[in-house]
Amino acid sequence: LDNGLMRTPPMGWLAWERFRCDIDCKNDPSNCIRYGGRVGTGGTGLSLCERLFRDMADRLAEDGWRELGYVYVNIDDCWSSMERDKEGRLQPDPDRFPGGIPRLAQYIHNRGLKLGIYGDLGTHTCGGYPGTTLDKVAVDAQTFADWGVDMLKLDGCYSNVTEQAKGEEEEEMEKEGGRERTDEEGNDCCGTDGEKERVREGRDEEGPRMTKERRRKRDERGYPLMSKALNATQRPIAYSCSWPAYQGGLPPDVNYTQLGEICNLWRNYDDIQDSWDSVLSIVDWFSDNQDVLQAAAGPGRWNDPDMVRQSLSLLEQSRSQMALWAIMAAPLFMSNDLRTLSSEARAILQNKVLIGINQDPLGVQGVRLLKEKSRIEVFWRPLVDSASALVFFSRRTDMPYRYRTSLLNLGYPSGSYKSSVVVKDQRETERELEERAVYDVFTEKTLPVLKHDTYFTVSINPTGVVTWLLTPTMHWGQAQETMTYNF
Ligand code: GLA
Repeated sequence: LDNGLMRTPPMGWLAWERFRCDIDCKNDPSNCIRYGGRVGTGGTGLSLCERLFRDMADRLAEDGWRELGYVYVNIDDCWSSMERDKEGRLQPDPDRFPGGIPRLAQYIHNRGLKLGIYGDLGTHTCGGYPGTTLDKVAVDAQTFADWGVDMLKLDGCYSNVTEQAKGEEEEEMEKEGGRERTDEEGNDCCGTDGEKERVREGRDEEGPRMTKERRRKRDERGYPLMSKALNATQRPIAYSCSWPAYQGGLPPDVNYTQLGEICNLWRNYDDIQDSWDSVLSIVDWFSDNQDVLQAAAGPGRWNDPDMVRQSLSLLEQSRSQMALWAIMAAPLFMSNDLRTLSSEARAILQNKVLIGINQDPLGVQGVRLLKEKSRIEVFWRPLVDSASALVFFSRRTDMPYRYRTSLLNLGYPSGSYKSSVVVKDQRETERELEERAVYDVFTEKTLPVLKHDTYFTVSINPTGVVTWLLTPTMHWGQAQETMTYNF
């Protein structure tokens, strides 16, 4: 979307993956999105209900995140009251945001940060809160603008339900326990990948009210309508559309040209979970469909493989996710607890060279170059000034694997990268272009210069990555001097 926003992938913090719809503050005070760990501060009349979001804003501002570009603090589902107000506007849950959203927005803006909020095009949000039906698009856009919101994520649950069916649907949700729905394992959940999967597999036919056709009609009108409505408020509000995730994610059902015109970013696929399998399935889906997806991305319009999850498990996997998200030019919305993050996890998320790769101004999304039988996969992303990033990713689970290859073997393009084709840069001789200075992003070491056909070996940990920044030797000094990649 050409609204001047998000010329590089957005960065920040988003509540969902880590904090979900946990509103049980009595039994789970440190994880609930109501008190954010400060049980007992109740009754002060202060903003205890905004505490989690204020805490994250404080951490972003004070722990070196903001300067690196992590500026969004994003509220996800379960923020609103179950009822709209008398004028038909959305309103926050009075317990959770007693000072309203404007007070939180002010707090966040005072720290040089931006506030994101969540809505859903349909009768309900995925968590069962009031959704934005077509007749409410304009009023909701204006409400968000009036509150000082800087970004809207518009989800797509229940967009296949007609207005007439809304009453029935509500009764049904009440029977199911409304927002306290649980998944098959009995966990609290609001995520509805079920809905996304059903569409992908052509099974979106749950009874007469829920047809794919109906969903398409609502989405086709609603998502562009919200884009116009946000624009009409004259407040710059970045726009994240979950549209493609509910349409199967691929053409012909998804029109990526149109999406790029109306949205700044979009979720294409399932929700990320705190599991390595979920990270792998996302990487596979994005790589298997990279031809379509790479062409869709660019400054102001990004594919969103979903949040950078809390590193509850191995650091190796956190490094891998961060490196692959940098290759994919993915938005970097962390979903974690910044108050208790380990220093090792923080070092990964604050790695300046990786962030430089993610934020590269050329804005070209990277690709998977190859998948070896050895279960090593190699990813590549072209960067400005004929630089590029290479990620060697191991899907093995046995031991560090010594992978031997050459740039030539990898099919690594030897010219410079312009728009969508690889061409020889006339100003540079072939020899100069073929010599690459290599910097290892995680060991922070400069490696011997590589010629196109030099063989080398990298040792890749199980589920881990080796991540390189390559620069034509003639640009190497310049890259360090201009701090392009923040050495
Ligand atoms: C959907 C979205 C998630 C999250 C939940 C909230 O599943 O894809 O990112 O917003 O809804 O209920």
